[in-house]
Amino acid sequence: MFLTAIFTLALLLRQHTFTPDETAEGGRLFQSNCASCHGSAGDQVPGVALMSGKFRRASTDDEVARIIRNGIPGTAMQSFNFTEQQAAMVVAYLRSVAGTTTASSDMPALGDTSRGKAILEGKGQCLSCHRVGENGSRVGPDLTSIGAPRPAAVFFGPPPPAPTPAAIVQQLLHSLLDPDSEVAPANRTYRTVLKDGTTITGRLLNLDTFTIQLFDSKERLMTLQRSDVRDFALLKSPMPSYRDKLTPQELSDLLAYLVSLK
Ligand code: HEC
Ligand code: HEC
Repeated sequence: MFLTAIFTLALLLRQHTFTPDETAEGGRLFQSNCASCHGSAGDQVPGVALMSGKFRRASTDDEVARIIRNGIPGTAMQSFNFTEQQAAMVVAYLRSVAGTTTASSDMPALGDTSRGKAILEGKGQCLSCHRVGENGSRVGPDLTSIGAPRPAAVFFGPPPPAPTPAAIVQQLLHSLLDPDSEVAPANRTYRTVLKDGTTITGRLLNLDTFTIQLFDSKERLMTLQRSDVRDFALLKSPMPSYRDKLTPQELSDLLAYLVSLK
């Protein structure tokens, strides 16, 4: 069972036809155009599970892309004015998340917690950006209780049920393999250019009418007056994908450690 799971993980790491940028763009298109009805996990329309890898009305990627561009007449599924490329990127995104959720009742393999801790502190260099307890850095989100269930983002309608343990593992795996495709707004990295030319890059903490607060890359809390700011832009995730950096075994060890952090 353990070996099968490792094998599945290995397969999952190989299937990758779109670039991470394209898949991430598909994710953005999905979250801004589709999540209002389908939910951010694609499962809010009864009977439709867009991230399960299976569609009722389509069996190929082209058919899914066609549904996106043409809609389903007579239903709330409207047509979207997407280019073929955009529709294909959305499908690539749905497939990439489906990849991480294959056999969704079955958790990805969890390896050895103490080896996972060693990878996080050593080879993975995770502490150069993240913090666990008292150790590490504040460039990225604090991982101290990353294994605890968190409520999903709600766009419309009633809050979704708390994520299952398997869903938590899959979400973590997704963060490690495709860090750029689904970033919580509070975790996004912004680049701010002040009117005097100073550039500050950091994680957004708070944004109001007059100020922008960020943690800069040296972990300093900066409060900037919006009137001093010339340019404010979202950057790609600084987090590297670990798809090719860690072996499947190392990934399962790391996952085991991450889910133990509560
Ligand atoms: C206004 C609500 C709404 C929006 C927005 C919406 N959908 Fe849908 N979608 C539906 C509904 C309702 C269905 C189910 C239609 C049916 O089969 O009765 C559906 C069905 C689908 C299906 C077919 C599912 C299957 O199992 O065959 C796909 C694929 C799909 N949507 C993708 C998308 C994508 C991608 C987007 C964003 C680009 C999107 N939808 C936006 C409401 C919506
Ligand atoms: C160069 C900095 C950097 C490194 C190295 C890095 N991360 Fe990240 N990580 C981030 C940032 C920034 C985010 C916030 C979201 C984003 O931009 O992807 C993040 C997001 C995450 C998330 C999602 C957090 C959430 O709240 O959903 C997890 C889990 C994670 N990282 C784990 C790791 C692990 C484990 C390692 C080491 C194997 C690692 N990261 C290495 C910067 C980094």
